[in-house]
Amino acid sequence: MSIIYNESTRTFNLTAGDSSLCIGVFSHEYLVTYHYGKKIPDTDFSSYEYYSPRTASFNPTRDGSTNCFTMDTYPLEYPSFGTGDYRRTGIRIRAAEGNTATDFRYSSHRIYKGKPSIPGLPATYANTDDEADTLEITMTDTVTGGELCLVYTAFNSINAITKSAYLKNCGSKPFVIEDFCSSVTNLSSCDFSMINLYGKHNSERNFSKNPLTHNRQSIISRRGASGHEQNPFIALVRDGSTEETGDTYGFSFVYSGSYEMGCDVDYYDSTRITVGFNPEQFSWLLSPGEVFYTPETVHVYTDKGLGEMSRIYHRFYSSNLIRGRYKTEKRPLLINSWEAAYFDFDEEKLVSFAREAKDLGIEMLVMDDGWFGHRDNDRSSLGDWFVYESKINLQSLVRRVHGLGLKFGIWYEPEMISEDSLLYKAHPGWCLHVDGREHCECRHQYVLDMSRPEVVDNIFEQMCSVLSSCEIDYLKWDFNRNLTEVGSTALSPERHGELYHRFMLGTYDLMDRITTAYPHILLENCSGGGGRFDPGMLYYSPQIWASDNTDPIERLAIQFGTSICYPASSMGAHVSFCQRTGFDVKGDVALWGTFGYELDPTRLTEADKALIKEQVADYHRYYDLIRYGDLYRLIPPWDGERRVAWEFVSPDRSKALITTVTTRYVTMERFFLRLRGLDPNKSYRNSIDGKIFSGAFLMYSGLNLSFMPCGDMQSYKVYFEEV
Ligand code: DGJ
Repeated sequence: MSIIYNESTRTFNLTAGDSSLCIGVFSHEYLVTYHYGKKIPDTDFSSYEYYSPRTASFNPTRDGSTNCFTMDTYPLEYPSFGTGDYRRTGIRIRAAEGNTATDFRYSSHRIYKGKPSIPGLPATYANTDDEADTLEITMTDTVTGGELCLVYTAFNSINAITKSAYLKNCGSKPFVIEDFCSSVTNLSSCDFSMINLYGKHNSERNFSKNPLTHNRQSIISRRGASGHEQNPFIALVRDGSTEETGDTYGFSFVYSGSYEMGCDVDYYDSTRITVGFNPEQFSWLLSPGEVFYTPETVHVYTDKGLGEMSRIYHRFYSSNLIRGRYKTEKRPLLINSWEAAYFDFDEEKLVSFAREAKDLGIEMLVMDDGWFGHRDNDRSSLGDWFVYESKINLQSLVRRVHGLGLKFGIWYEPEMISEDSLLYKAHPGWCLHVDGREHCECRHQYVLDMSRPEVVDNIFEQMCSVLSSCEIDYLKWDFNRNLTEVGSTALSPERHGELYHRFMLGTYDLMDRITTAYPHILLENCSGGGGRFDPGMLYYSPQIWASDNTDPIERLAIQFGTSICYPASSMGAHVSFCQRTGFDVKGDVALWGTFGYELDPTRLTEADKALIKEQVADYHRYYDLIRYGDLYRLIPPWDGERRVAWEFVSPDRSKALITTVTTRYVTMERFFLRLRGLDPNKSYRNSIDGKIFSGAFLMYSGLNLSFMPCGDMQSYKVYFEEV
């Protein structure tokens, strides 16, 4: 049992792997956080004096004096808005009378084995009921009749705790939820820096690290999507910690819509972390008897640094978030038509790609944008999901590609609509819009109102008629703009605050229906590259296109940043024709991800073809190591060195692949690279010259790479195997 309740002290200890979260029912039935961090056995915090009561003036209390418990100074586990805690709170409700004073206190709890799913939302899961335990704490706000349930799941053998919440209106009047966090976390000090992953189209998930200050430091999306700009993830690293040492906390939000997450440091130097919907774009009218569920946050703590935190997320998301056939099955090595042909293709051209690709050892052809409606450019046809018959005969194309021994994939952008489409002509009101207000175009397209069930049904049926017409093996799900003029003719005015979230619920519903109807299809998410690279999407699609930027040098920052939270097996990475480096560097960098090609294979030189065949062999040779191995970021780009280096080590520590890329010319330099994660007592043979070293030597003394190629933008791979 990873969750213990001590009845006499009214304390819960949730232990997940090597981490513990301790919560207690405290004064006036408020819940407080006693501890979150390294594993501890305690369930008795009765001698706990959290703050000096002397400084409690100006702090509202329920005890009638100043030397006492106050809501504003104690680490309330799930604080309510407007009743004494002036910090960022977890929930705000507007009562039928119009006020927003909300006050939830403990009323009951239950502990059970396993982990519940969250209705309509993506979430991590337990593979067996013995893998995790769940605690549900119910808190009540007597005035509104709101019954709030905090749901915690602790995983036994991995340092992961999930938090989510749901709220039932048990009162007699409707109320409006104006803010509803998935999780609140309290830490008793502020000696941390916050890491977040920022970016833009073509430059996603850059690493940023800033010390906490006495203020709110947060990230936000207002886009109706997780977005390119900020990934829904933050980490707190204690001062002095490194890639492989020190207290590190990760907070990852399993949601793909607008969100807000961040940290507040209060005047007692303690830190509160909240994760949830973006309250600027969220409200929900809850009538008596109705229930509303939040998405979940995945919390990871380790005392072994940022690298170990990442490895925990990689393992956890690979085994407890990603689902379906391709959770375990080998992913096909693909070639995608986008950078090879853009909209300019027909059946013969695609078959010629497939023929060349087959010869190179590639396993799947993906037909990207341009196969439907009358789409010859990005100005038309989104929403018309029927085959553009003067370009291709889909059945014949699929038959011919399969006949060559390749799988076949197809592209969709299901949540979008072009003005120039039959769907728009038939249903101009089906896109998000505000009557009388000019409509923003973005890539010449509008966003469908996914909150309307008839819209989701229509797109589902259109997709099914194509997906059922022939054997499709893969589907790339794109999303090339964000939401504006978020209005719906189907929602009453008092429900308009629900639209951003209802949009996501509609999208998740469609993804769920497609993946359920076609479980054999490998789904890859995409949003103008990596604009929706989030755990919510990973629940439906085991891989996500990481970026439209396929330049291998630019990709280094993108892939290193992505690896902070997401496993290599989820990172769509392809070799393209971009000019900056040789094919070898492109291959070495793309090998980190799902691997594939994004080029016209009929335009390759013989030398390139020979290299591609080697890369294909490398893909198979290192597949298990990269897919199931542990990643070590030996020299990340944010260290500002002239080279970067990363390493994959197999779970049994018998194999390791090390890759370095020199980003700026390094001259006459001695370079010893200290490896990580090996077994010091094992001996390893180097694939380059057959030399044998002990794991101890490679880790503590270092691999001498002084003689490796060190010109501008050159790469180098070394493989070690136990002897
Ligand atoms: C954006 C994606 O990121 C590209 O890979 C490609 O699929 C285009 N959309 C197609 O419009």
